[in-house]
Amino acid sequence: THQPSAQQHGFAWRALDDACARVLPQLFPSENFFKRREEVRRRVEACLNNADVLGNGRRLVLRVFGSSANLFGAEGADLDMCVVPAASEEDTELSSPEVCRRVGEALESAGAKNVQVRDTARVPIVLFADPQTGLDCDVSTHNPLALRNTELLRAYAKIDGRVRGMAYVIKKWAKIRGINSPSDGTLSSYGYILCVLAFLQTVPNPPILPSLQRLDLDWPNPKNPDRPPPERVPHPFDASRDVCLSFHDPDKTGSLADLREIAGRNRQSLGELLALFFRHYAWDVDYRNLVVAPRTACVLPKANKAELDCWPQNPHLAIEDPFETHYDVAHVLKYPKHQLVRKEFMRASKLIDDAAAQRVDPDLVLDY
Ligand code: GTP
Ligand code: MG
Repeated sequence: THQPSAQQHGFAWRALDDACARVLPQLFPSENFFKRREEVRRRVEACLNNADVLGNGRRLVLRVFGSSANLFGAEGADLDMCVVPAASEEDTELSSPEVCRRVGEALESAGAKNVQVRDTARVPIVLFADPQTGLDCDVSTHNPLALRNTELLRAYAKIDGRVRGMAYVIKKWAKIRGINSPSDGTLSSYGYILCVLAFLQTVPNPPILPSLQRLDLDWPNPKNPDRPPPERVPHPFDASRDVCLSFHDPDKTGSLADLREIAGRNRQSLGELLALFFRHYAWDVDYRNLVVAPRTACVLPKANKAELDCWPQNPHLAIEDPFETHYDVAHVLKYPKHQLVRKEFMRASKLIDDAAAQRVDPDLVLDY
């Protein structure tokens, strides 16, 4: 087919820039977003402590994770919360499913709407709607990996404005196209954000993001040059594995200004990056052989992964979780939906090329 010229591409990128400038201010949350959510969190926390869901008067803290805490949240997002025992050394005697059922009962008694208890899930969880605000909420009972990956995503979001810009546009696009629903066999918001991070680490030249996990291994530490390798801790749900939860946190190490300066050496606009993003995941990724892996800032060969049974060499998108390196975040993409996401990347990429060739607004990509 006819390939648009560089000048024509420039036209489409600028049109996408304009579209982003139009839609992003509507997508970014207001000050009130965090205030309202904090009020709900506090109220639910008090309700669960009053009902003594951990037993024997043990107090709990509810911690927010997911898009209400990772800087990728828009107004309509659900509020994801997780139970953490207030005294960390004092582990509850109750099992997660038991706590989950007690959370469900406490919320039901307090008037929560549409309470659904999923106590047999890998991470037991209660879904409900907050009666006062109508906000969709969930409380999971033991979810340390999600708390940690929320911190990781948040650290990436702070490095460059284009990280959030891209993630908001891609999340919105995925919702509009109906491909953001893991329970229906399409990809989670978390999966799309990992795709954005891996893209910003590997495709733009120079790269906009480093791997914060890799940087943690390499970062010079003058106080302790012989620093031991970061600690591995037992996997919270799987005694046969361990996980490494450390990453280079620019806020704690004072390196944020440096990382921003490095990111800023790349001058590509949001519109150009979006066009490259769709083209990359539509045509350039070798899905059969490679795993998208923001832990490493390079793609990993499926064939080299230790747990080969988790990484079959089929043409499906595979995304390594940054902490659970055996876990494919895209495993939810199952027949017959497994090709849908890839087809949508192709559709968006073609629309942008057509818009470039015909000099029309690529509005169909961002038609909201
Ligand atoms: P929206 O709610 O769509 O705005 O995005 P979100 O980031 O909150 O996504 P979602 O509600 O689907 O998931 C909430 C959080 O759960 C994510 O941000 C992650 O922290 C965590 N999470 C979701 N899926 C996975 C997964 O497959 N593996 C792990 N380890 N964590 C996940
Ligand atoms: Mg969420």
